[in-house]
Amino acid sequence: MILTVVFHTYKMTAKLDFVKRELEALKQEGRYNYIRVIESPQGPWLTIEGKKVLNMCSNNYLGLCNDPRVVKAVQEAIEEYGVGPGAVRSIAGTMTLHRQLESKLAEFKKTERTLVLQSGFNANLAGIGPLLPNAEAAVFTDELNHASIIDGIRLTKAKRYIYKHRDTADLEQKLKEGKDHPIKVIITDGVFSMDGDLAPMPEIVEVAEQYGAIVMVDDAHGEGVLGDHGRGIVDHFNLHGKVDVEVGTLSKAFGVVGGYLAASTQLIDYYEQKGRPYLFSSALTVPDTAAALKSVEILMESDDLVRKLWDNAAYFKKEMQALGFDTGISETPITPIMLGESKIAQEFSRKLFEKQVFATPIFYPTVPKGKARIRVMISAAHSKEDLDFGLRAFEEVGKELKLI
Ligand SMILES: Cc1ncc(COP(=O)(O)O)c(C=O)c1O
Repeated sequence: MILTVVFHTYKMTAKLDFVKRELEALKQEGRYNYIRVIESPQGPWLTIEGKKVLNMCSNNYLGLCNDPRVVKAVQEAIEEYGVGPGAVRSIAGTMTLHRQLESKLAEFKKTERTLVLQSGFNANLAGIGPLLPNAEAAVFTDELNHASIIDGIRLTKAKRYIYKHRDTADLEQKLKEGKDHPIKVIITDGVFSMDGDLAPMPEIVEVAEQYGAIVMVDDAHGEGVLGDHGRGIVDHFNLHGKVDVEVGTLSKAFGVVGGYLAASTQLIDYYEQKGRPYLFSSALTVPDTAAALKSVEILMESDDLVRKLWDNAAYFKKEMQALGFDTGISETPITPIMLGESKIAQEFSRKLFEKQVFATPIFYPTVPKGKARIRVMISAAHSKEDLDFGLRAFEEVGKELKLI
């Protein structure tokens, strides 16, 4: 039997006028996201629109997205376990592989336990809500924290104190104001994803101890990058046991998808009872779990990729600065090329693409207005020739647009 598919079109009625207006405004202001589709595996070079382009904007820090060892581990796991988890973790979705990954991650992060979720975004939602159970609780959050932290907080009734970016004096002031709340939680990105600067964790921990506050850090851009073998920001500052919860993602340096919480046995036990994305959204799939497990093992065996990442980043940053570009305040391989207005960032990105370099523009609301940029993400998978290719394209476009 032949199935005939009929595509129905929707009538654009007045009730949706606001959608039309908003889409037009985004285009006018140069803030509309044009999505390019990747036709090849992730790696230093991609195929997009049939063209080979240098990839300078993915979070594939260590090149593990398409590592043959990871791919092989996935193939073996699928043979053994299939693909789907079949349920949420708490009903019938927790598989041996989830537990293996959690043990391996606990070893990697040097924590008592970890809990694996479907994404870093969900890990923040699962991690924040249970720590802010009622309106008497208070949260102290850096003004530049990631959207998933902001949304995690929005889902609670806690009193919000937003402190100035990386400003521990302001944090302390806010803690003084909120000292009577029975539960106080400080939440910060470890590495700020758009600027690549670090949270002052030792000072945050100190002030937290003084005011009896819980500390939670989102280590999405720290793991695989900072600390011994890429163990993350807590290891980088040698604060093991002093940060109550680390939120991790498996989608960046680990090259897969998924997220996790790393904490004490007691806190993870609590999250298993209370974390809504854990309780009400199906478990991470078999291929994702097996792939992430292999990536963590690779990272624990050798830090060669982490070292290569830092060498590449140092070289690229130095050369970009020599060309006259403003690379912001980054302390990590995240390399923002500050361009100002969103339309300039869009035009810059378009011109780079003509020169076979793929680097997406980033603008408001992802970064503040007037701070649009191209965020270059360096990878251990880039060769020196790749970086030189990228540098030449940036130089040419920078000169064409009279920015350098
Ligand atoms: C700081 C930070 N936290 C959380 C996330 C969300 O991670 P995931 O992509 O695994 O959902 C991201 C990713 O964009 C991030 O940059």
